[in-house]
Amino acid sequence: MRTLFTRISGLAGCWDSPPALLKGSEMADIPILRNAWLCTEGPSIHSFGLMDELDEELRNSCDEWIDLNGQWVLPAFVDSHTHIVFARTREREFVHRISGLSYEEIARQGGGILNSAKVLRETPEDELFASAMERLTEMIGTGTAAVEIKSGYGLSMESELKMLRVIKSIERFSPIPIRATFLGAHAIPSEFKNDRSGYIDHLIGEMLPVIADEELADFMDVFCDRGFFTQEETERLLEAGARYGLRPKIHANELDFSGGIQAGVKYGALSVDHLECTGDEEISLLLKSETMPTLLPSTAFFLGMEDPPARKMMDSGLPLALASDHNPGSSPSGSMPFVWSLACIRLKMKPEEALAAATLNSAYAMGMEEELGSISPGKRASFLITRPADELAYFPYAFATDWIESVWIDGVPVEN
Ligand code: NIG
Ligand code: FE
Repeated sequence: MRTLFTRISGLAGCWDSPPALLKGSEMADIPILRNAWLCTEGPSIHSFGLMDELDEELRNSCDEWIDLNGQWVLPAFVDSHTHIVFARTREREFVHRISGLSYEEIARQGGGILNSAKVLRETPEDELFASAMERLTEMIGTGTAAVEIKSGYGLSMESELKMLRVIKSIERFSPIPIRATFLGAHAIPSEFKNDRSGYIDHLIGEMLPVIADEELADFMDVFCDRGFFTQEETERLLEAGARYGLRPKIHANELDFSGGIQAGVKYGALSVDHLECTGDEEISLLLKSETMPTLLPSTAFFLGMEDPPARKMMDSGLPLALASDHNPGSSPSGSMPFVWSLACIRLKMKPEEALAAATLNSAYAMGMEEELGSISPGKRASFLITRPADELAYFPYAFATDWIESVWIDGVPVEN
């Protein structure tokens, strides 16, 4: 079955031979065809081009024609960092923060991640599955076509395995691809409060072998930051993960210059994420690596934190990816359109740069760049059709506006 979309006002992120990722100044240069057509074949992109050059033979070979007068087609978003399996929202902490407590103070008082762990341990798998699927469905509706999901609210063998199994079930039933990340090192659970190294031994000696044996995770993560895990502890964990073939994607340098970027680069992390605290040393290490620096602007926005130096990072030649960090504590939203707006408004990324970061570079950050992240022949036909707009910049500019008309996943429009 072939479908032809005609008179597309702007077809963005379209390459015949797409690069794996875009760095520095390349990010502003994503291709945009004005007055274009797009042809899908079954679940894949078949071809695209300019309306003036649309071939009669191709037109006649299509089974369906959809005329998009004034509308744009954009590659669907890829969300390479989320925590959407959780038992309960944490709006009470939100109110505490409004009254002046910091995220770290709340965590020290047993709130935060430990609060989520306490409730998750008591919640059955089917409930976790159902609520995560609801979040996922909402994210697909706002244009997301692949999601990475982390464990890390279990913090015990039993509950981490429970979370990872829920993620595996989501993967089975989800209309979009899912990747699972083991984040047992998200916080030190209360049982190990006075025995940090005992918990790390437990993660390495007991949890990792079972998770690897049951193939429950694609990646591993550590929250390498002040008050959570040190650089040394992170390196011990990543070294052990490497023995099981688990590539790192880690939380780094959100609250302080934690050494997380150093640890991630040393162990060949696919991505290092957050990065509010990034200086010259970290930038030069990243420049020599294949690690994708990933920014999570809705987290810094929600926690009222200083933003990472995105402009400086790109001007130094680094690639950047963007993700939602959807989680109950620091980013209770999986809206990638909002992330796109925040990246422009707060990180001073140009609309084209931020779109590249939220699509192609985010696909790279979860190992999916061959399938998603651009409009390219052979890739999945997962894209957004927008409401009519003159310029690409309209979309991040019109923040919190519902400018998406329809979301297509693998060649099929998603029912809303
Ligand atoms: O990415 N920074 C660490 N983990 C999550 C927050 C987890 C939570 O507060 O529940 C994050 O922001
Ligand atoms: Fe996170």
